[in-house]
Amino acid sequence: MTKTQILLPRRQSSLKSLDKKLKTLNPDHRRKYFILTDANILEHCLPTLIYNVPELESADFLELPVGEACKDLSIIHEVWGSLLESGADRSSVIVNLGGGCVCDAGGFVAATYKRGIDFINVPTSLTAMIDAAIGGKTAINLDGVKNQIGCFRNPIITCIEPAFLETLPENEIRSGEYEMVKTLLLTGRENWQNQNLSDLEDLLPYCVNFKQSVVKEDPEDHGLRKMLNFGHTIGHALEAYYIGQQKEMSHGEAVGIGILYALYLSTKKLGLDHACYSQYRSWLTKRIALPHLTLKEIEQLLELMRNDKKRADNETLFVLLQAPGVPVIDVSVNDNEIRDAILTSANK
Ligand code: GLY
Repeated sequence: MTKTQILLPRRQSSLKSLDKKLKTLNPDHRRKYFILTDANILEHCLPTLIYNVPELESADFLELPVGEACKDLSIIHEVWGSLLESGADRSSVIVNLGGGCVCDAGGFVAATYKRGIDFINVPTSLTAMIDAAIGGKTAINLDGVKNQIGCFRNPIITCIEPAFLETLPENEIRSGEYEMVKTLLLTGRENWQNQNLSDLEDLLPYCVNFKQSVVKEDPEDHGLRKMLNFGHTIGHALEAYYIGQQKEMSHGEAVGIGILYALYLSTKKLGLDHACYSQYRSWLTKRIALPHLTLKEIEQLLELMRNDKKRADNETLFVLLQAPGVPVIDVSVNDNEIRDAILTSANK
């Protein structure tokens, strides 16, 4: 698989580095660029991209619907059509400017158009910067179930520019912080709960390098990479459960709560020190109110988890922690243990 070059801000902004890279990648301007983005990003981030990366001035723009809606096959079909109509060929390059959804969908378009063309990820959300834009997982949804169709294809470049985060609403930044804390727990970073999460100069490269090192070791998710699902098993089900309800739950919040349940299960199944669970619980409850789910609602979550490839009969495979920095993948957890984790951690 292609190796991704990650651009992080060093002596100059990452966007300036991207401009330089594109000059070498496309010296005679024969390759055509197509920027895929959504309406929000078009307004808030596209001007910054074009201003700092003049090499993209003559790119075509394709606008996607905002959020998960862009990961529908009908939308991908339209994008393939637009590329064909605009004369995109095998030398063309797609630039995905956006959050996780744009990177997932745009990566899938690039991986499939004319059997695969080059693409560049320019993530604009914190979650995408430290997760979705790195590692070559491309994906669209099937019948409302997330990420069921896709393939692995690495972007040639992932350009991480923290300046884009200034355009994000507070709740989006918070969402990304749960993914950051996931990394801190998986790596056993000392004193993580007192870490200033807005110190991105330190934390952004830390999280990016961690993700990169994991996917380098296990690019196609057969073993080690599964650890990145820490907190996501019940997290994804929670996110799906709240869709369309009066108060939806963001991906980040769902992962934040999913991590709590996973830590509780870790104390029960792997002997994780209870203090780690309690510290996390007190950190989390300062940020969000924990859901008090009824037994009926928990059954619905279990049903949603049945759609998850990690589930067999009434057993679900979890990533748990033996200790901070010591994740264990494929730990089998039964439905009663999940019910107990959800009910107990809501109260203590
Ligand atoms: N987001 C999890 C992974 O990239 O494997």
